[in-house]
Amino acid sequence: MARTLLTLVSAVPAVLALNNGLARTPQMGWNTWNHFGCGISQDTIENSAKALISNGLYKLGYEYVLVDDCWQADARDPNTGAPVEDKSKFPDGIKAVADKIHSMGLKFGIYSSAGTYTCGGKFGSLDYEEIDAKTYASWGVDYLKYDNCNNEGRAGTPQVSYERYNNMSKALLATGRPILYSMCNWGEDGPWSFAVNIANSWRISGDIYDNFDRYDDRCPCTSVLDCKLAGFHCAMSRIIDFSAPLLQKSGKGHWNDLDMLEVGNGGMTYDEYVTHFSMWALVKSPLILGNEITSMSDETKQIITNDAIIAVNQDSNGSPAGRVWKKPASQGGDIQLWSGSLSNNQYVFAVLNTSPVNQTVDISFLDVFVDQGRSFGSGTFTLYDLWQKDPSGKWGAPVGNAQGTYSVSVDTHATRVFKVVPAPSSKREL
Ligand SMILES: *[C@@H]1O[C@H](CO)[C@@H](O)[C@H](O)[C@H]1NC(C)=O
Ligand SMILES: *[C@@H]1O[C@H](CO)[C@@H](O)[C@H](O)[C@H]1NC(C)=O
Repeated sequence: MARTLLTLVSAVPAVLALNNGLARTPQMGWNTWNHFGCGISQDTIENSAKALISNGLYKLGYEYVLVDDCWQADARDPNTGAPVEDKSKFPDGIKAVADKIHSMGLKFGIYSSAGTYTCGGKFGSLDYEEIDAKTYASWGVDYLKYDNCNNEGRAGTPQVSYERYNNMSKALLATGRPILYSMCNWGEDGPWSFAVNIANSWRISGDIYDNFDRYDDRCPCTSVLDCKLAGFHCAMSRIIDFSAPLLQKSGKGHWNDLDMLEVGNGGMTYDEYVTHFSMWALVKSPLILGNEITSMSDETKQIITNDAIIAVNQDSNGSPAGRVWKKPASQGGDIQLWSGSLSNNQYVFAVLNTSPVNQTVDISFLDVFVDQGRSFGSGTFTLYDLWQKDPSGKWGAPVGNAQGTYSVSVDTHATRVFKVVPAPSSKREL
């Protein structure tokens, strides 16, 4: 069995990914969990779908409306074993909600766990993969978030985790309906290695906590590469650290998922949420909003509608940015340089400051372009500040040309993001 699997996996080029044609760029949408938890109803979902459209979010790419845990009745259908919705929350049924979401031009997603019970204590899908996938497809489901609670110990090696998650992957494919498969196994057993051909995305860590850097023993790992217990309550900047080594495992159709966004939920400052949104975008995490989008502050709306940052996330190259360096600051925390390439010979870099004070750093283009080589990095570059608006009000103000080094001021807990276009003169030098 193990040999067959190995042969199969290595015979399929990683770029093919899950053969459902979905998530060619990281998926974008809104999910009930981070704001509503189990307190959901069909009204919550329909009102949020309307808000995606009326607030212009759908036009920016947020297309999936995702129902997380606690949509289920107390038990499956006793005769057929099929999943059943909680009629007090969904009096018209899940299918009617999905139909309504589709009639608005949006896509609809649902949640289950690869365990006997979900994290919220509802019935899970373990050993019910086929009937659940079929039922979801008959309801018009376009997306499944598949959690890891109560997995009966069917974890601990990549092989057994692969098999458990592949059981649902196969069941979804067999329905014939394209259903985006979002694995939520918290990075257990290294899904970036075993799930590339069975899922469209996988969570890399324990659940996010709406805080910049609060230490919590319930998120015990220092690195995800040798993490024995993913836990939860992982502060946002810790998840950025977790993601740093995993970049080359992510690409078109198969993404590292840093967890849903907390922007707008109140636990971080404006600058901290700018860091959160910027870094999720740069490393090509799915961008799944988790705030109350029917009523949000102008600041929250500004952040999640920054179309220059969204364009980095959705760039057709599908190439995640990587961390070039992380340098400790004398006051605690660190300064980080991230850089990545975009389509059309454009590039992006970000400077992140986790230290408790404002910092000014000289960024060397040889560092930004460490992958492109010295000759390229010695050129002249035109820079656009993606968190500044140009005079016409568009994100991405041009801030001039630079060569050699560029001085960047970055406030405490903030991130500056620049798009870089090599100047024509530097192309001639090449
Ligand atoms: C996968 O499905 C098969 C067939 O239903 C089952 O025997 C097996 O236990 C499942 N594997 C895991 C790890 O859940
Ligand atoms: C950091 O800079 C911002 C303006 O960019 C300023 O409002 C703030 O007071 C500065 N903080 C410190 C500690 O100097």
